[in-house]
Amino acid sequence: MIRIVDSVFIKSAVKPADYPPIEFTDIAFVGRSNVGKSSMINTILQRKMIAKVSSTPGKTRLINFFKIRFKDASQNDGYVTLVDLPGYGYAKVGKVEREKWKKMIVSYFASRESLRGVVVLVDIRRTADPKDIVMIEMLKDYNIPYLIVATKSDKIKKTLSKKELKKLATGLQIAEKDIMAFSSLKKVGVEKVLAWMEKIIL
Ligand code: GTP
Ligand code: MG
Repeated sequence: MIRIVDSVFIKSAVKPADYPPIEFTDIAFVGRSNVGKSSMINTILQRKMIAKVSSTPGKTRLINFFKIRFKDASQNDGYVTLVDLPGYGYAKVGKVEREKWKKMIVSYFASRESLRGVVVLVDIRRTADPKDIVMIEMLKDYNIPYLIVATKSDKIKKTLSKKELKKLATGLQIAEKDIMAFSSLKKVGVEKVLAWMEKIIL
């Protein structure tokens, strides 16, 4: 299993011309505003605030790139770029902002050749969201491997987790093996995400 050694923020960008040059594999995090993308990145990297977190939706407005160094099972160094994407579905955002968001995401998916995997975050307490279905459809179209992560699992009883995951999988039209529970608060699911990342990187 890979082990994160250190991580640095590289830069924020809106359009492809501003992205950092491709050096490593990109793994990106998407989902509704406030679902916990930035928190999940911090949790995986074991950093408190490398990605900015806020209780107010719409915190992340740009594409943020982080360079990660890890060690594999043989203690060799490896690198990966984690990408924190702005969230969708924030009601207070106007049409112009929404269009900007769409353009930002679509051009990233379409142009970033090093993009090898996307983690789609959904709230474990909610039912399948049409916006998430559209996102997953887009990933299928672009042939980008994805992992669906049901976040904030600390907010529901453990015994309900399996049932909720099954419901979400059906609603999102994905296989049950492609969805897992996660909690940044309780650090649930970190190993599983790292194992998925490892499959993609190595
Ligand atoms: P945007 O940048 O606005 O798209 O949001 P985001 O998806 O990056 O969410 P962020 O990580 O900023 O977290 C939003 C809120 O949810 C914050 O108040 C977090 O503390 C909280 N939160 C995130 N993950 C968890 C979790 O696993 N459990 C609980 N209980 N709260 C969480
Ligand atoms: Mg964020």
